[in-house]
Amino acid sequence: MTVDMKDLVALCKRRGFIFPASEIYGGINGFWDYGPLGTELKNNLRDMWWKWMVTTPPIGPDGQPVEIVGLDTAIIQNPKAWEASGHVGGFNDPMVDCKESKKRYRADHLSVYIPRNGDTKLIAFDRDATDDEIAKRLEKMDNRKSVADYDIVTFDKLPIDQIENVIGPDTKTQGTLTEPRQFNMMFHSYAGAASGDENKVYLRPETCSGIFLNFKNVMDSTRVKMPFGIAQVGKAFRNEVTPRNFIFRSREFEQMELEWFCHEDDVPKWFDFWVEQRKKFWDFVGIDLNKIHFLEVPDGDRAHYSEKTTDFEYQFPFSGDGYDELEGVAHRGNFDLTQHQEFSGTKLQYIDPVTNDRYLPHVIEPSCGLTRGVLALLSEAYTIDENRPSGAYMNFKPSMAPKKAAILPLVAKDGMPEVATKLYMELREHFAVDLDIKQNIGKRYARQDEIGTPYCFTIDGDSVANGTVTVRERNTMSQETIKIDDVLTYLQEKLAQ
Ligand code: GAP
Repeated sequence: MTVDMKDLVALCKRRGFIFPASEIYGGINGFWDYGPLGTELKNNLRDMWWKWMVTTPPIGPDGQPVEIVGLDTAIIQNPKAWEASGHVGGFNDPMVDCKESKKRYRADHLSVYIPRNGDTKLIAFDRDATDDEIAKRLEKMDNRKSVADYDIVTFDKLPIDQIENVIGPDTKTQGTLTEPRQFNMMFHSYAGAASGDENKVYLRPETCSGIFLNFKNVMDSTRVKMPFGIAQVGKAFRNEVTPRNFIFRSREFEQMELEWFCHEDDVPKWFDFWVEQRKKFWDFVGIDLNKIHFLEVPDGDRAHYSEKTTDFEYQFPFSGDGYDELEGVAHRGNFDLTQHQEFSGTKLQYIDPVTNDRYLPHVIEPSCGLTRGVLALLSEAYTIDENRPSGAYMNFKPSMAPKKAAILPLVAKDGMPEVATKLYMELREHFAVDLDIKQNIGKRYARQDEIGTPYCFTIDGDSVANGTVTVRERNTMSQETIKIDDVLTYLQEKLAQ
């Protein structure tokens, strides 16, 4: 059954995964706050990525362990860095305004339907419109039979003299859309008391920038040898024209990025290696690889720095029959180090200790959104089940689940809360666990199902008398009885799977 985004967003709010930022003031478009469980889930994904990349990185294609170090760099850097990286001049989206509805769109996300019979009534749709919505609106506005009566182009490819003929997605009249204009997506501020241009600073739009700026520092202060990687996880900011689809495209988000530095001759080997590693990672954290589509991004669609990119696109609930980007693995050439070397005047070449060769290494960059990864985990986990009181449960892989277990006394009397509390005190030394004493047991199971807790341990009269406990498994709802003394080992074994 298809997951409805409205249901997923409602569950996230109801159970404390994700809230609209500043909700009591009506929210702020493109910003989200992570609640108690969302923070745990995000941390679990981040920590697993860090473990895979930095703490225990994989064995490379030549059988040697790969070497990766981590960084945590400033969000605001010297503004010259963003001139060098091309962000000041080129980090733009084409933006279109509707003078009537006051809505704003990305020109490359608007599809314009042009009647094949030469009529001048052009109708635009935002890219989230479903096939059904498009068919109905065309029928209503233009009395036409089918989509086949139109040619479709994106608004940014439409000849300028035709713009006045377009009816925007949220109006009924022609000529309300403006010409596209380039809009720089970097947020800016002013450092210090004065707010002149000389004090203008930018919030980083991608976390990798701090890695390139510290390439020399890492080489000088550690014993890394080519090839090696530098990893960073952190916030990035983009003033997106149209933030949408819950946390998918937001204005403040988190990225997990690895910059893998190697000799140009070794690029093909390492590119393939990192694509395979990233597939294994998403599989490991519980994403069905059948829902991922691997796209070789064609010339013209790649970022300005990229010589080759493979996008991992996931079938999010709002993707319909299509897919949307979760991660990209890019070959950035030596674009960044070349630019920073030129703009800063600092030599960034690597000197091979054996051959004395000097060169600017090339970079393979697996880059994914941490927050977008959280949305993939939430989407994957949301499982509709009309046979249980909650109507749905979150099928997180146990190691990713915010809570690993819940301890639930059947009733809040007859010695059961005391036994439950003792077990809770033991387990909380090892895992994130919940102790929930009061309320009808069915409601407590429903809550744990909705937050994706894989195991519930129910304490009943037998627990008090005989030291046993009933384990309820989230997905099957099957129950088995084990000894209370065995619960820790039981959970350790299950979570290691
Ligand atoms: N350093 C390369 C880079 O930033 P990107 O394709 O622009 O490349 C990488 O971004 C990843 O960051 C994307 O695959 C996506 O997961 C995430 N991302 C980008 N923009 C985002 C946004 N506005 N909101 C949430 N995640 C975003």
